[in-house]
Amino acid sequence: MAALRRLIAGNWKMNGLTADGLALASDLAARAASAPPDCDLLVCPPATLVAAVGAVLAGGAVALGGQDCAAAEKGAYTGDISAEMLRDAGCTHVIVGHSERRGACGETDEIVRTKVEAAWRAGLVAILCVGETRAEREAGLAQTVVTAQLSGSLPDGADAARLVVAYEPVWAIGTGLIPTLADIEEIHRAIRAGIPGGTRILYGGSVNPKNAAEILGLVEVDGALVGGASLKAEDFWAIAAACG
Ligand code: 13P
Repeated sequence: MAALRRLIAGNWKMNGLTADGLALASDLAARAASAPPDCDLLVCPPATLVAAVGAVLAGGAVALGGQDCAAAEKGAYTGDISAEMLRDAGCTHVIVGHSERRGACGETDEIVRTKVEAAWRAGLVAILCVGETRAEREAGLAQTVVTAQLSGSLPDGADAARLVVAYEPVWAIGTGLIPTLADIEEIHRAIRAGIPGGTRILYGGSVNPKNAAEILGLVEVDGALVGGASLKAEDFWAIAAACG
């Protein structure tokens, strides 16, 4: 079992209208109040729901995060949301460098690094995502790619209080596939060598109530970043409960 207190984070991605998001948040808040699990909890709703979900979660054990932030603090960046705005809306965390943004939005390591800096500037914990594609894994390059992403995306001055790293193999996201447990441990060990001691490393990619216990049971895994299964309170809760 991991030595650090584990973090179970839900990335809702682009899912949920107001009624769905508030119902899910209320359900999680009620569960956390009546039977707190042995882990930290975080949900990252779409930007339209951040403030309303934050109001439901206020004062409880489930923290609030954004899914992305702009590098700049303010200005002429149509459609973007700054880390300061997320903080103002009640967030304590923000996901940066998710593969869906690295891929679909062309975010380079350099861009991701400026977003981590923005998160820190605003007083948010940055959840920095890294992960290899299927082709990179098949070519034996997983560790090389992940450690290069990490060193390219991580600014100087990192410390465990404001950084979480999420290892999310691109080919495992939304596919039902996961790496072997040995492969997860190997990559997490390589990541750990490049970050300050005490920094949590989450695994993400097809985590569900069935596989959560074996993944979260690994010494190198300090929690999970959950996509699809975070949209159902029962499934997200079962994953949190797998922390023991
Ligand atoms: P899934 O859990 O749906 O595979 O998504 C993982 C993810 O991308 C979380 O950020």
